[in-house]
Amino acid sequence: MDCAVSLAAKFGVLPIFQGHRLRPEAGSGHGRDLLLAAVDVIRVKWAIPNMFRSVSVRVLFLIILLAPHSLVVSAQSVPSKSSKVSTATEIRVIDPGWWPTKGTSARDQYVGSETCGRCHQDINATQTNTSMAHAVKSATADAFANIPHEMHFRTGSYDYSLSRTASGAEYATTNGQQSASSTVSWVFGDRQFGDTFLYQQNGIYFESRVSYYRSLNGLDLTTGRTRFSPSRIETALGRRMPPDEPPLCFGCHSTASSTDGQFHPERLIPGVTCEACHGPGAQHVAQMSLEHDARSSTLIFNPARLSPADSVDFCGACHRTSADVSLNSITGIFNLRFPAYRLEQSRCWRNGDARLTCVACHDAHKPRVQGAAFYDKVCLSCHSPGGGVPKDRAHAASICKVSNHDCVSCHMPKYPIPSMHTDFTDHKIAVHGDQFTE
Ligand code: HEC
Ligand code: HEC
Ligand code: HEC
Ligand code: HEC
Ligand code: HEC
Ligand code: HEC
Ligand code: HEC
Repeated sequence: MDCAVSLAAKFGVLPIFQGHRLRPEAGSGHGRDLLLAAVDVIRVKWAIPNMFRSVSVRVLFLIILLAPHSLVVSAQSVPSKSSKVSTATEIRVIDPGWWPTKGTSARDQYVGSETCGRCHQDINATQTNTSMAHAVKSATADAFANIPHEMHFRTGSYDYSLSRTASGAEYATTNGQQSASSTVSWVFGDRQFGDTFLYQQNGIYFESRVSYYRSLNGLDLTTGRTRFSPSRIETALGRRMPPDEPPLCFGCHSTASSTDGQFHPERLIPGVTCEACHGPGAQHVAQMSLEHDARSSTLIFNPARLSPADSVDFCGACHRTSADVSLNSITGIFNLRFPAYRLEQSRCWRNGDARLTCVACHDAHKPRVQGAAFYDKVCLSCHSPGGGVPKDRAHAASICKVSNHDCVSCHMPKYPIPSMHTDFTDHKIAVHGDQFTE
């Protein structure tokens, strides 16, 4: 369900060439500059932009060029230089060191979150309850629990149905003359607002044309799909995904779906679990199992050490960074899905501030807190008498004359995205109107 906006964008014109121009301060060395220059030359010389429309070809190409520089990804390495501006994720993942969605580590370097939980019990206990941890599931009977046993939906000349079975669910469509059906193989989403179904035929992935929406407790068109009436029954059932697309979906919704630079869905860990964010943990576990004095370093990526802009980009590896959004010229109401982009448009953000990163408001290991009061302390850390730290005095933040509590209820309102049957929070902190107008 898409994520269509971003995927369309991902498959659109290659943003990577503009990428390094956007981030003058964030270099990471000679290797990459050479690489970018080389790619530019090749692109101009051979004029084969279409080749670069394909993400995997592009990434493969970049990896080959960068080798052996980037093939060895060790979880402990951090970006060599911290930046103050947002960077495109496509650049982040070819930089050396760990970054979420990077798929170059070996599968046997991943240990799974149960192992992490042996020593980090509290974190594991709450992280398991997050939506992120359930962002994709294998389509067993459990994955369809708490939704109606049989759902129907009609659009144009097609009738759709999703019927639960003993082992999962059967997804079907008919127009009276012809019918098509398939067993669902993967359920994407944790029903924050909806679930989209993936099925496979002859090894090819398809995305269901309809999705389950929680607010409807029923089916409607998958976000991003149009109401045109497909002429072929197969097209009516679902969208055949180009081969580059499933690795992207699984890359953001699961852990270790791509390893050694290859997509291996049969070996993935469902959901966004510890190692999707911290990188593969085998070396860390080995180190931490040694006597205290024998340990060299922790050998695991701790995002707490990132600069504010990098920290927001870190979550943006999946939620999209500001650079990802601007490079792909995504405009209008769909921007609400991109919190990093909206946040960094706020006057509060300026050049980045640790008091306003994603993790200042959201604990990465817990479900998000609903309700406004919880977030007041974040706003008041700047917008209260003495709130700005001394060196900030020139930018001292002002005090609200309207209210002294529930700040986000007015300054970060929720607006509906109608085709998604849900509201999103506007992360651009400002004095807003009743309607989303940008
Ligand atoms: C054998 C016990 C053990 C296991 C298993 C374990 N950890 Fe740790 N972890 C520790 C200890 C102890 C520390 C604190 C180390 C220190 O501060 O010197 C730590 C620290 C960390 C840190 C902070 C590192 C830093 O440099 O600040 C992260 C992140 C982390 N662990 C994540 C994980 C993840 C993810 C897993 C599973 C892949 C995991 N841990 C498995 C014992 C463990
Ligand atoms: C760049 C990372 C990224 C990619 C690629 C991606 N997603 Fe997502 N997806 C997200 C994030 C982040 C969210 C949560 C925020 C939002 O809804 O925008 C999400 C939300 C969803 C939801 C709603 C979840 C819920 O609980 O309501 C569904 C369904 C979904 N994605 C399906 C897909 C499918 C299917 C694909 C591939 C066609 C895909 N996504 C590709 C990152 C991604
Ligand atoms: C590896 C990809 C990935 C990374 C990295 C990531 N997210 Fe997510 N996040 C997702 C996906 C996918 C969803 C949608 C889950 C669903 O409902 O299916 C999501 C949902 C969420 C939600 C809404 C669900 C809830 O718990 O209320 C919040 C909040 C969130 N992420 C915060 C963060 C923060 C903060 C960071 C950075 C520390 C982060 N995410 C990093 C993939 C990611
Ligand atoms: C969505 C991304 C995400 C996931 C999933 C995730 N973490 Fe973290 N983790 C973070 C971020 C971001 C920080 C830094 C938090 C901060 O700056 O306050 C962090 C910090 C930590 C730390 C260091 C705490 C400290 O005080 O420095 C440990 C240990 C840790 N995580 C363990 C885990 C374990 C174990 C899991 C799985 C059960 C896990 N994390 C899952 C993003 C994530
Ligand atoms: C100043 C506080 C604040 C910051 C910073 C912040 N958020 Fe949020 N976020 C919120 C609030 C408030 C909500 C709505 C909570 C609720 O459901 O009542 C929210 C909701 C969300 C949701 C659920 C979908 C939605 O739009 O309602 C996601 C996903 C999310 N945030 C991700 C992020 C990410 C990623 C970042 C960093 C780029 C971030 N947030 C930074 C306060 C913040
Ligand atoms: C890191 C410090 C910081 C944090 C945290 C912060 N702000 Fe701000 N905010 C500023 C600064 C600096 C400005 C610009 C100067 C001013 O108007 O006070 C600003 C401006 C504003 C404005 C005026 C915006 C405009 O476009 O004119 C509003 C409204 C606002 N903040 C509300 C909030 C709310 C609500 C929160 C919590 C969700 C918050 N701020 C968190 C620093 C911060
Ligand atoms: C009931 C809605 C509401 C709540 C709740 C609210 N505000 Fe406001 N706030 C407003 C409105 C409306 C304005 C614009 C007032 C004007 O222009 O005269 C404003 C203005 C501001 C400004 C800009 C002031 C200036 O002089 O430029 C800041 C900063 C701000 N609010 C911060 C906050 C903070 C922090 C909180 C929570 C402690 C908060 N607001 C709670 C409605 C609200």
